[in-house]
Amino acid sequence: MPRIYCDDDVDLSVLSGRTIGIIGYGNQGRAQALNIRDSGFGLLIGNRDDRYKDIAIKDGFAVHTIGDVAEKADIILMLIPDEVQPQVYESQIRPHLGAGDVLCFASGYNVFYRTIEPPAGVGTIMVAPRMIGAAVRELYTKRLGFPCLVACREGDDPQHLPIALALARAIGGTRLGAFQSSFREEVVIDLFAEQMLWPGIIKLCLLYFEKLVENGCDPEIVTTELHLSGEFVEIAKAMITHGFFGQLKLHSQTSQYGQLSRMDRMAPPELLASVDAAMQGITSGRFHAEWAQEREAGKPNMRKLWQQALEHPLARSEAKLEVLRKVVARSYGGA
Ligand code: NAI
Repeated sequence: MPRIYCDDDVDLSVLSGRTIGIIGYGNQGRAQALNIRDSGFGLLIGNRDDRYKDIAIKDGFAVHTIGDVAEKADIILMLIPDEVQPQVYESQIRPHLGAGDVLCFASGYNVFYRTIEPPAGVGTIMVAPRMIGAAVRELYTKRLGFPCLVACREGDDPQHLPIALALARAIGGTRLGAFQSSFREEVVIDLFAEQMLWPGIIKLCLLYFEKLVENGCDPEIVTTELHLSGEFVEIAKAMITHGFFGQLKLHSQTSQYGQLSRMDRMAPPELLASVDAAMQGITSGRFHAEWAQEREAGKPNMRKLWQQALEHPLARSEAKLEVLRKVVARSYGGA
């Protein structure tokens, strides 16, 4: 078991007398800023002139330039998108960093792939909520928790771990428990879900749709059965309530037998090779290089892939069920 830190294991006083600066006021930036403020700490917000700046002002913060915050703060939270961080870091943050400053990331991406390499005297830590920003805020206000990973940069003296833990506690990340992890582990877990688990699930859903329609089933009924019924969500919830396998007991005996006897057949050797290739692409840096190149070229493949996805018959079928989708979405708290 990795070490898990809860509220009582963490000393918040290590943040006293330090100036905390948050760069970015988006998904994570807003949630973390509001939570840190409600935990009793003052902080500076650094944001460029855009709509996020207006939101921060509406929330009662004085907003500074990113460079100003980097200069004044000695604990800096990097909460802008991973893709823009290296350029913003080089031009507006790095020139103001000095020994003893601490730079905190919410993902391991840029440090693991060495697209940001803070100098040796600068504490480089990670506080990565495993939760979308809106929920980081909502769970905090409800006094509930969310999983969080904390780490010091691999190879560094872990002297700054208490600061990572205190920040995790201040955003509500130690209520449920913060796991001691590493930048590498966060990246691999995150990207592997994005490149193996979710695309695998999406592809299986599409195959489910295609095969049923090919076998004479109505596309709209299949789409409803697939995700609009909400069964998918209920199964995911039951995995938490009854356990990953325990939820199977909520299904009929026929369903249980069907699922348990067929699951291995859904993973033939070719699929296992793709699983290995996805992991290899992540750990070797190949995916990172491919994605950087794609962005530099103006994302032409991304546009094609989006177009291809939206042309799938499932997307057309879903469009016909817009009214139903909105009704179901409301019952799950969505718009
Ligand atoms: P976001 O997309 O919500 O970031 C928006 C913010 O970035 C705004 O304040 C905007 O002004 C600023 N920004 C965008 N482009 C900029 C540029 N070129 N120069 C200066 N500022 C710019 O970002 P998000 O999703 O909150 O991600 C922040 C960090 O949190 C990332 O490291 C991400 O991996 C991590 N993270 C995000 C999660 C999420 O819920 N989205 C979950 C856990 C971690």
